[in-house]
Amino acid sequence: MSYIRLVNVTKRFGDVTAVNNLNLEIDKGECFSMLGPSGCGKTTTLRMVAGFEDLTDGEVWVGDRLLSSPKKHHYTPPENRNFGMVFQAFAVWPHMSVYENVAFPLRLRGLPSAEIDQRTKDALAATNLLKAASESPDSLSGGGKQRVALARALAINPDVMLLDEPLSSLDPHLREEMRFEIKDLQRKYGFSIIYVTHDQSEAMALSHRILVMKLGVVQQIDKPLDIYAHPANRFVFSFIGVSSFTDVLWQDGKAFISGSDRPLPAALTVPEEMKAEARFSLASRPTEIEFTNAEDPAGVHGQVIRRAFLGEIVDYLVRIGDQQVRVQIGRRDPGPGPDEACCLKFLRPFWYKAED
Ligand SMILES: Nc1ncnc2c1ncn2[C@@H]1O[C@H](COP(=O)(O)OP(=O)(O)O)[C@@H](O)[C@H]1O
Ligand SMILES: [Mg+2]
Repeated sequence: MSYIRLVNVTKRFGDVTAVNNLNLEIDKGECFSMLGPSGCGKTTTLRMVAGFEDLTDGEVWVGDRLLSSPKKHHYTPPENRNFGMVFQAFAVWPHMSVYENVAFPLRLRGLPSAEIDQRTKDALAATNLLKAASESPDSLSGGGKQRVALARALAINPDVMLLDEPLSSLDPHLREEMRFEIKDLQRKYGFSIIYVTHDQSEAMALSHRILVMKLGVVQQIDKPLDIYAHPANRFVFSFIGVSSFTDVLWQDGKAFISGSDRPLPAALTVPEEMKAEARFSLASRPTEIEFTNAEDPAGVHGQVIRRAFLGEIVDYLVRIGDQQVRVQIGRRDPGPGPDEACCLKFLRPFWYKAED
């Protein structure tokens, strides 16, 4: 059952359309991520859901409650939306103890003091902060401060948790750990999450579904695996994981990688819709290419430019014609050395028009 609904939501700042006709439905208890490069409209969307930003057009609903609609002159202020919020910057109050940081919003709501104490302690316990309750948040690490912000958002018992790049100022190790803590909290408390990030692995690890956005326009909304396995277009392909795009062109009815004097093997079938394109792309992911022997009829010939050992995997850059392709294999697999001729087998090729 859809719970949060955005209907034709548009936001313009002067000439800039930050969010363009966004339609979205999120379920109760769902963890939904918005993923895209800086400036694509993620924060603006979240701020509209929170009520910090007016809509230029469209509607925001939670359950059967209309929250924002410029056309209907309706606007519910943030404090009446019961949403928890955590932002990238450590928005904690340094002059208050950790306990007071969490209790303060509850005091503002005028709750009875016994309930304030109980909820504050529960939220501190859930975020592993009970021991630090009387300390200043300034005495905590970045991860600790973000836990305080999380505890404060939890204490109000939110229907929806809005998280805007909450982990991006933490170091990578802590970031990974806190992903799982957020998931655990969600399981325990049952709120919906809208999680904004530009980090695709974070979105993949956390979400039930991911929205990929580019310049205010939705590119795809899908489960993480479907985003990865069936990207809707060239942009989504390039944004999820490491990718190579290789220019291909037609010559005498045969497809050649740009600068190469050998046509692509027949086993690497170019789809019909590329036949009319002068130039198009063969898109690949480094882990979906293998080295094969020179006689393999599906092999594409190239030359190793460099090889780098990245622990468990070996990362290659291979030249084909005047193009370059990334290849990654396990460190135990045999692979060619630097400058050697090699032969590549594309296990899962994707094909895109030049301007897709
Ligand atoms: N208050 C504002 N005034 C003018 N332009 C803004 C404002 N807030 C955001 N923008 C513009 O809207 C676009 C989307 O911004 P934002 O939502 O912050 O993107 P993201 O969070 O994905 O990085 C950008 O082009 C940004 O410059
Ligand atoms: Mg942002």
